[in-house]
Amino acid sequence: LAEDVRRVSGLIREVADFPQAGVLFRDLSPLLADAEGFRVVVDAMALHAAEGTDVVVGIESRGFLLGAAVAHKLGLGVVGVRKPGKLPAVAHRVDYDLEYGTAALELPEGTLAPGARALVVDDVLATGGTVEAACALVEYVGAEVSVVSVVMELAALNGRDRLAGRKVRSLLTV
Ligand code: PRP
Ligand code: HPA
Repeated sequence: LAEDVRRVSGLIREVADFPQAGVLFRDLSPLLADAEGFRVVVDAMALHAAEGTDVVVGIESRGFLLGAAVAHKLGLGVVGVRKPGKLPAVAHRVDYDLEYGTAALELPEGTLAPGARALVVDDVLATGGTVEAACALVEYVGAEVSVVSVVMELAALNGRDRLAGRKVRSLLTV
């Protein structure tokens, strides 16, 4: 599977100066659009849950695509943590900084039971602000993060350092 991941990673597109000057944006859209690429990535992320997981948490927007497929593969439910203003009932909100701006995430009320072990899924780990916010939401309601699973980790931005105490798994590191 590691060899499969390496092969399909060639489908990831690098876009200079998006969404702002100086950022080299890794666009996973062509990888997710490819049947084999999507299957390989979802299968590999599902293996990250081997340590014990009750539910999958996907982060808006691209974490939704991956998280839903991983949850289905594992036979689990999926929770979407969302940008503000989208949810009718919010359990908690966390504001955070991005590589390119600021943002916030909200957890839908009544979705994570206390003690539930959540696999947190996203496409890219950059500064770690987004995943850290998602983990904080999970932990606020008394659930726990079993593993953080991402397709690609941008090591130079040290996102892993912000996630102290959580298991972090990435399929690719650049
Ligand atoms: C991107 C990406 C991650 C996050 C990573 O999402 O999909 O969620 O940034 O950055 P960080 O590690 O520095 O927090 P973005 O906020 O662009 O939102 P989108 O998925 O809705 O486009
Ligand atoms: N790709 C996708 N999401 C991101 C990136 C990137 O290169 N950097 C920060 N979030």
